[in-house]
Amino acid sequence: MSTIDSVLTETRVFQPSAEFVKQANVPGMAAYQALCDEAERDFEGFWARLARETLQWSKPFTRTLDESNAPFYKWFDDGELNVSYNCLDVNLANGNADKVAIIFESDDGTVTKVTYRELHARVGRFANGIKALGYKKGDRSIIYMPMSIEAVVAMQACARLGITHSVVFGGFSAKSLQERIVDVGATLVITADEQVRGGKTIPLKPAVEEAFAMGGCEAVKNVVVYRRTGGKVAWTEGRDLWMHDVEKGQSDQCEPVQVEAEHPLFVLYTSGSTGKPKGVQHASAGYLLWAALTMKWTFDLKPSDVYWCTADVGWVTGHTYIAYGPLAVGATQIVFEGVPTYPNAGRFWETIQKHGCTIFYTAPTAIRSLIKAAEASPDHHPKKYDLSSLRVIGSVGEPINPEAWMWYYNNVGGERCPVVDTWWQTETGGHMITPLPGATGLKPGSCTLPLPGIMAAIVDETGEDVELGKGGFLVVKRPWPAMIRTIWGDPERFKKSYYPEELGGTCYLAGDGANRDTDGYFWIMGRIDDVLNVSGHRLGTMEVESALVAHPMVAEAAVVGRPDDLTGEAVVAFVVLKRARPDDAEAAEIAKELRNWVAKEIGPIAKPKEIRFGDNLPKTRSGKIMRRLLRVVAQGESVTQDVSTLENPAILEQLGKAL
Ligand code: PRX
Repeated sequence: MSTIDSVLTETRVFQPSAEFVKQANVPGMAAYQALCDEAERDFEGFWARLARETLQWSKPFTRTLDESNAPFYKWFDDGELNVSYNCLDVNLANGNADKVAIIFESDDGTVTKVTYRELHARVGRFANGIKALGYKKGDRSIIYMPMSIEAVVAMQACARLGITHSVVFGGFSAKSLQERIVDVGATLVITADEQVRGGKTIPLKPAVEEAFAMGGCEAVKNVVVYRRTGGKVAWTEGRDLWMHDVEKGQSDQCEPVQVEAEHPLFVLYTSGSTGKPKGVQHASAGYLLWAALTMKWTFDLKPSDVYWCTADVGWVTGHTYIAYGPLAVGATQIVFEGVPTYPNAGRFWETIQKHGCTIFYTAPTAIRSLIKAAEASPDHHPKKYDLSSLRVIGSVGEPINPEAWMWYYNNVGGERCPVVDTWWQTETGGHMITPLPGATGLKPGSCTLPLPGIMAAIVDETGEDVELGKGGFLVVKRPWPAMIRTIWGDPERFKKSYYPEELGGTCYLAGDGANRDTDGYFWIMGRIDDVLNVSGHRLGTMEVESALVAHPMVAEAAVVGRPDDLTGEAVVAFVVLKRARPDDAEAAEIAKELRNWVAKEIGPIAKPKEIRFGDNLPKTRSGKIMRRLLRVVAQGESVTQDVSTLENPAILEQLGKAL
């Protein structure tokens, strides 16, 4: 709660310096306003102009936006292009061939650099290799890889052939992997033997084996393995192939397969409020357009920049702002394998110094943990490093509290670099509400104003705009090119989740609550549904509940979020066992077992921070679990709300007691 209070009383405004404005891609508020006005005046013309100027089309489009089957919008749909061509070949033709595309910084600090020419050749060889195996446009692949040049190569190679990829974060369990292989109907899996993080190796290929053993993956014909560590892995002859063997003897030149603008580039699974994670389906052209434009607008990217996004390719941030966006604009970027605290808490700052990083993009959760680490170990405070190369710093994934914002601005940005607090989602494909560093006055804790062409608003439950200063649902009233196209295999769920009838059926419901101040600035208040944001990772309470009740000892479970200083939100689970409620000593043991169980079912990020056991859960007389009461109880507060509808009020006291 303290975050929300401090957000609402935040009044400081930081204007960009005249020097920054002068050189900016969007120089000043008048330039921003001109773009917004253009979009207001001629919405389709605005997007058509940008799409023609930004992308290279093998077949130019003549239709910009097709709304005939809303909310299944189509953009530029009679045009054709290839995403990988736009990221690689274009750079070979425009003088970037010998420019470094990727500076790979491995966990142990070893650096590998590839130029655009080399990356193009790697992608060409690998694409030719998987093409020779028979994979083609329309097939689906699963990519389960560590942060590496190879992960980018795999994604780009799929894009080159029109294979729709679905990247699964390396921290997800075998079970999560299996569910995604089945749901997306993958025929190809690309993985690595192991990954290395913080000096430790973590198996990946063994998780693939485990996923296969669960069944349902019979359609997969090949598992291609990048040899990262040389660790021992099980091998199925005929099915499993080393990535380097797939590339061996292949030509560097792979003819890009031109696809329709709407061809699905990728499906990325994310948590929703109900049921299983949903496969967010993105198109090719509109997505790439927005990835490229936002690189230039939000990050003010210039040819001389050294850009670094610390996200993992397993999340949407790693798709748009590592695998596609930076390449589409010919940037030099750092790709980092490790963790922020290894070998010490100065790793980020040292890496910025070492490579002369100019644009740095990370998550509030990392910032908060590094604030703590810098306090504990002053030698690794950012002030101990030369960070003078930085000129723009960004934040993504969760609300950043003003205190963390100020620390970031002062200590990392040297009171000189604009902080771009970018609000967006897996579904939006790219930034939606964010400052432009050479235009927008910054208010710590606010993601400020919508990008040009993004018709964001705050409405009440009937879809009416709320007055400035009043909270409501964050919506986007017009479609945009990078938007989600559907949920893979479940168009009904897409409509219900994002375009509810209550809001008229053509207004995108983001799932966040927000507030707009009298300057029109947006302040995100967090999710309004049963989705948690733990360290910037989205988790459905239902997902964690289903994982818990799948344990043979568990009869019932309810999961809620609790504000957490470090992780933003923490998972708290209330569990009823099939047997009697355990005493304290036993409860600790069982809680440990259940936490590990959840890690196995979903992944370590979903582990409940706390588990409390009860004889029952607070329910209404009709049997509905009263989660709002559990949220209060989880925070250690006493319930002051009306509990008259509760069948068993005494249970609150029992559950109120932490272990
Ligand atoms: O609640 C918002 C929060 O993260 C959610 C989207 O999560 P995901 O799809 O995993 O994408 C994360 C990376 C884009 C949103 O619904 N969120 C994201 N960025 C911000 C944010 N909340 C506040 N401020 C942000 N800058």
